[in-house]
Amino acid sequence: DKFRVLVCGGGNGAHVMAGLAAAKPDIEARVLTLFADEADRWSESLKTNDLTILVKGSDGQPDTAIKAKPSIVSKKPEEVVPGCKMIIFVVPAFAHNQYLDAIKPYVDPKCIILGVPGPSFDYAVRGILGDKSDNVLIFETLPWACRIKEYGKEVEILGSKETILGAIQGSLSTAPIGPMGKTPVETLQYILGAAPVLHVTGHPLGITLMAAHTIHCAIMYGTWANWDGKPLDKVPLFYQGVDEATAQLMSDLSNENLTVTEGIKRKRPDVDLSQVKHVYDWFMTRYTNDVQDKSSLKTVLQTNNAYAGLKHNMLEIEPGKFVPDFTHRYLSENVPFGLAVTRGVAEVAGIETPIMDKILLWAQEKLGKEFLVNGKMQGKDIQYTRCPQAYGLTTLDDILGH
Ligand code: NAI
Repeated sequence: DKFRVLVCGGGNGAHVMAGLAAAKPDIEARVLTLFADEADRWSESLKTNDLTILVKGSDGQPDTAIKAKPSIVSKKPEEVVPGCKMIIFVVPAFAHNQYLDAIKPYVDPKCIILGVPGPSFDYAVRGILGDKSDNVLIFETLPWACRIKEYGKEVEILGSKETILGAIQGSLSTAPIGPMGKTPVETLQYILGAAPVLHVTGHPLGITLMAAHTIHCAIMYGTWANWDGKPLDKVPLFYQGVDEATAQLMSDLSNENLTVTEGIKRKRPDVDLSQVKHVYDWFMTRYTNDVQDKSSLKTVLQTNNAYAGLKHNMLEIEPGKFVPDFTHRYLSENVPFGLAVTRGVAEVAGIETPIMDKILLWAQEKLGKEFLVNGKMQGKDIQYTRCPQAYGLTTLDDILGH
């Protein structure tokens, strides 16, 4: 019998994950996609085609292609969830709750649920599945930069991360549930291949407090909070355009994450939050070969080759006139599923976060939402966020899953 894996989602990352899993001879890969007519379109394509993953060669190496066939793509959870021992969510965070609701009646209690990417995904799993599952494995980001070229038929991996950070929780953490007795982490590594290398250690909260929203939200605030509203003639660089004040803000925000981390460690010394680092130190381990000038956080952002040429996401409202796009995921995902979460955790831990509050109050107004009101995560829109309060997780034990 093959090891049965379910991929939840129907976009770029879901194509790659389903294809890589299906390419393994001892894995059966299934797909659940609830969105629009994606399941029908993908199923139709599979009748006549394999799914092809094009892997762009790095350093002048030729491109390669992996061909595979997921066994079934469906929008009906009852058709695909039963018997799956590993369920991998590869879908933007705003869609996670909908998928958790859908799979809930059919989930095998001896199954592990992965969030890729998944900072704070464990709150949604605990909040929605409750006792049905205590096994979660989350990662800070998607393993690849990838784009669908033709729906259900061809997807391209533009690049893979070298390493990604993750954390696992639950009774199956080291259990030999996968093919050839592999643990959950070994099974995912087997599906992904050589890159990225998975660094899984500590409590999931460490991933949630370390997530990249710190970088994106600080740059958005630093660039646009004092903007006069007049359209710009050109689109500024996102990372390379960072000034001293924005770099300082990012550093201060990162220090607040560390303060929250220290506060929780004092109350729960047994909880391993060792993945949480200052953002400068994170850059030093993540992009050590890409950064030309390591002298400060500002120069790291300005001289990181991996960021060269990346610009702000702007709308061209008339030819040659640009305004910031506040609906882009740097705010629309990174605030409800990033900043609001760390703010909610800080509140439960009883730690004040003036920098976080300042950025959150500005950003929620740009999103037209109310999350933080009168100093508490109690606004009318907190259900749109993944702050622990949105799931009724209001004590440190709730947050930690103890
Ligand atoms: P995507 O942009 O391909 O996601 C679109 C998919 O989400 C759709 O195909 C559909 O299945 C689902 N969806 C969209 N609207 C929906 C709705 N209203 N209700 C329910 N489902 C809906 O996502 P992608 O590219 O696979 O990325 C997944 C996550 O990884 C995202 O959070 C993204 O920010 C992140 N990420 C993506 C990278 C990439 O290169 N694609 C790189 C780094 C991070």
